[in-house]
Amino acid sequence: MLFVDAGDWSGDPNPQGAMQTRALIEAMNVLGYEIANVGQRELAPGWEVFQERAKQARFELVSANLVWQDSGEPILAPTTVRKVTLRNGARVKEVRIGFIGLCQNNPAFQAQGPGGRRIVTLDPAAAAEKLLPGLRKKADIVVALVSMDLDLARALARRVKDIDLVLGGGGPIQTRPDDFPEDTQFGRSRLMYVGDQGKILGEVRLFFNAQRGIASTQRAAIGLSSEWPEDPALAQLMERTKAAINDDNRARTEAQSPFAAAPATAPQQAIFTGSERCAECHQDEAAAWKATGHAHAFQALVKANQDYNPKCIGCHTIAYGQPGGYTSPMMTPTLQNVGCEACHGASSRHPAGGGPYGRTSTVLCLTCHTRENSPDYDPATYIPKIRHWKERPAAAGK
Ligand code: HEC
Ligand code: HEC
Ligand code: HEC
Ligand code: HEC
Repeated sequence: MLFVDAGDWSGDPNPQGAMQTRALIEAMNVLGYEIANVGQRELAPGWEVFQERAKQARFELVSANLVWQDSGEPILAPTTVRKVTLRNGARVKEVRIGFIGLCQNNPAFQAQGPGGRRIVTLDPAAAAEKLLPGLRKKADIVVALVSMDLDLARALARRVKDIDLVLGGGGPIQTRPDDFPEDTQFGRSRLMYVGDQGKILGEVRLFFNAQRGIASTQRAAIGLSSEWPEDPALAQLMERTKAAINDDNRARTEAQSPFAAAPATAPQQAIFTGSERCAECHQDEAAAWKATGHAHAFQALVKANQDYNPKCIGCHTIAYGQPGGYTSPMMTPTLQNVGCEACHGASSRHPAGGGPYGRTSTVLCLTCHTRENSPDYDPATYIPKIRHWKERPAAAGK
């Protein structure tokens, strides 16, 4: 068994992404990854950071079309070969699998290397055609690890005849299994594409003929859902990383000046005031709301140690990222939780302003109850649980 990565495995080029990437490499080391293609994401945080990551990785990095602009030479080993012993009963004992790393060509891409040297991309098909004759001499079959859009990966498989298997990710699309050759086979090249985000593990079983060529394959996309048990050591690594990221975000938030932290609010715009003051006039609605999870949604983030993670805060507070909305526990303590104004809107001019206020609709539930974060969401069961309004005859369908 060989673990390989198709490239673009690095997190975003910011402090949070850096911590995630460090943890990811540690996990890939533990899992025994052997080879990873390098995509443009890997170079985004700069050359020094890339060098540190390459040092941390116990797997080999390859790329055939990330090249020095001055010489046209690849910045890493373009190809590599692994000998694999086949199980008893196979027609041959051993095969040599050649790997080539290819990323998407991007004329606008340029990364700084050491001493002012620049890194650019080449056309992946041209790079592959140049290198494959040499690789063929050392390998029985050739596998391309590609970080590019699916249509480009297909075009590559069509054009470069000498690739046996193309493995890729990048974008949400997955290819279908072997029974759909129109999607997944182009001449002798077979293609397996799993989506991005690391949520799917692609498994390819190769069966060889007596000439050490591929006789057939079995390709499966395995969704890494919660049904699979956690590996205790890796789960611990994840928890540690999440906590460290949260601590880091907390330190950054606390270091911000209160004046910088509060986004300017146009004076004529209503601002968010928090849910406490509504109870005075809307006792029943307030009591109903208090009894729902919305009233302590922020606590869920605190418990998960994610209360400073910008990726989580939006749906667990009032108006995070909007003018006058939630910023931090110190600045905006009354805007934690899914308060009244998360659904009814900024209320500073209600009721004194006179005009109508608070029109909303259950259609908006879906902005937070997404398929990803609330897979069980069903209006028929969820709406009655938080209802604090009179049933309108029309809405009740009577
Ligand atoms: C000082 C009393 C008072 C406070 C405080 C107050 N409201 Fe009201 N609210 C009213 C009154 C009176 C009405 C009905 C008249 C109107 O529509 O303006 C009303 C109407 C509403 C409506 C429309 C109800 C309908 O039948 O369509 C919503 C929604 C609402 N308030 C939400 C809130 C929220 C949320 C808060 C807190 C952020 C709040 N109110 C604070 C007095 C108040
Ligand atoms: C797109 C909106 C959204 C984002 C982003 C989001 N959540 Fe949530 N979260 C929800 C919703 C909606 C629920 C309620 C799910 C349900 O009960 O169906 C929920 C529920 C939860 C719960 C369970 C609460 C309980 O007590 O049962 C936890 C814990 C949680 N979220 C943590 C997080 C963390 C950590 C993040 C960031 C990594 C995050 N959420 C990002 C919308 C979101
Ligand atoms: C998760 C979203 C959400 C939250 C949080 C929320 N509401 Fe509502 N509220 C609604 C919806 C949806 C309606 C019904 C709108 C409609 O049918 O026109 C509603 C209706 C109302 C009404 C009109 C009541 C009626 O009988 O027609 C009032 C008043 C109100 N909410 C006040 C509040 C107050 C006060 C809070 C906080 C204590 C609050 N709401 C929190 C979504 C929410
Ligand atoms: C601003 C984001 C947001 C919106 C809008 C929102 N929710 Fe939620 N909802 C959450 C979060 C976060 C949780 C998890 C809270 C917890 O338990 O910690 C949740 C939990 C729930 C729950 C389960 C917890 C409970 O109260 O028993 C129900 C039911 C629910 N929401 C219904 C609705 C409905 C119906 C609407 C639309 C009227 C709605 N939500 C709109 C974020 C939202």
